[in-house]
Amino acid sequence: MEIVKGFSKLSKEAKQEWLINNYCANPEKSLELLKSYNHDDARIQKLHDEFIENTVSNYFLPFGVAPNFVINGKIKCIPLAIEESSVVAAAAKAAGFWAERGGFKANVLSKEKIGHVHFVWRGKNPDDLFAFFEKNKQKFFSATESLTANMRKRGGGIMDLRIKDKTDLEPNFYQLEGTFNTVDSMGANFINSLLEEFSKVLEQEISTAEELEQEDRSVEIIMCILSNFTPNCLVRAEVSCPVDSLAMEGVTGEEFVQKFINAIKVAEIEPYRAVTHNKGIMNGIDSVILATGNDFRAVEACVHAYASKDGKYTSLSHANVKDGNFSFWIEVPISVGTVGGITKLHPMVKFAHEILGNPNADELMEVIAVAGLAQNFSAIRSLVTTGIQKGHMKMHLLNILNQLEATSDEKKQIVAYFKDKIVSHSAAVEIFEKIRGQKTSVNN
Ligand code: MEV
Repeated sequence: MEIVKGFSKLSKEAKQEWLINNYCANPEKSLELLKSYNHDDARIQKLHDEFIENTVSNYFLPFGVAPNFVINGKIKCIPLAIEESSVVAAAAKAAGFWAERGGFKANVLSKEKIGHVHFVWRGKNPDDLFAFFEKNKQKFFSATESLTANMRKRGGGIMDLRIKDKTDLEPNFYQLEGTFNTVDSMGANFINSLLEEFSKVLEQEISTAEELEQEDRSVEIIMCILSNFTPNCLVRAEVSCPVDSLAMEGVTGEEFVQKFINAIKVAEIEPYRAVTHNKGIMNGIDSVILATGNDFRAVEACVHAYASKDGKYTSLSHANVKDGNFSFWIEVPISVGTVGGITKLHPMVKFAHEILGNPNADELMEVIAVAGLAQNFSAIRSLVTTGIQKGHMKMHLLNILNQLEATSDEKKQIVAYFKDKIVSHSAAVEIFEKIRGQKTSVNN
């Protein structure tokens, strides 16, 4: 294999050719596969081709919906894009369950985005730098007025600017820290453009700062970038109801709540469990983020940093009982947008926003936190009652049968067979072979 030069400049067809001829055992079949995943509508395909570089085909994920979510008194249908069999079913189950018990309450607690110009300043006294900054602070705002004009019109913009002394971490290391209100956009481009402009103002103003000694009149800019850690972009979602109304699966409300709270406690005190617990929450959060065209990597990175903000990785959700009332809640940092990015471009993303009633960013944050809490509720409910595998394997059964290349009729019979039995891979293969009357040749 040779290093390929100028690959991005090749046509899509040439890229496909190069790929299949170099990496695929059966190039003809692979080309057919790549082409079969192309969209028939050339306009939509072109959009996808241009989202990223080197597009050779599309990658489908199921787009599902979980109806019956009552959020702050309004009924919503939540869109979820995810490959894991049981996630949408778990969301829908929790939605229906809580719809009968007052629904979900959600509210945005804060919505501040943050970014830094990381720089080196070799002056001796940090107070001199702080004094220089205070004297010149207004210039950072005025130099960026044209960049912030639109955002200011929408009620956002730069909230504050300050210098942070980070020399306890690294000699001569400082930050110009900005906090921003990006209203309904996630704001990455807005913030990064401003930071790059701030760095120029900083270099310029410090070079002529008469209040500083001559040798202190320079900085070395390391980089300008927003932080995806947004602990002050927080949303809370909660459910609550009388303990008595939680009787289920052969247990009283009191027993269920005791088991539930114990399970939450384990995630609060023990990181091995906390990671899996929070992964279940992210099943809901990521699916909505993907469906609504937002950046799930940013939210993932932020949420896990937030889960360890007090020095130990812990549960994102909590539960308690007070005066016979059970409460279960989550507070998570969710930085998302309903404008910008691909939100107005990707047809399915636009559709997802439409079925959510074209929410603003605050409303979308609320929906996302609710989806995370709902997912967590269903997971813990199963874990402390029937066990997780019963529901999970039931949902996974169709994947197993598809892998075995079962016909629709065989699938129907086998799903019916497992109605009152626990699904396992081997049990599914066994009944499949029995119904078909022969051993399967599919490698499973
Ligand atoms: C599986 O995707 C998620 C769970 O493991 C979450 C949990 O254990 O709480 C079921």
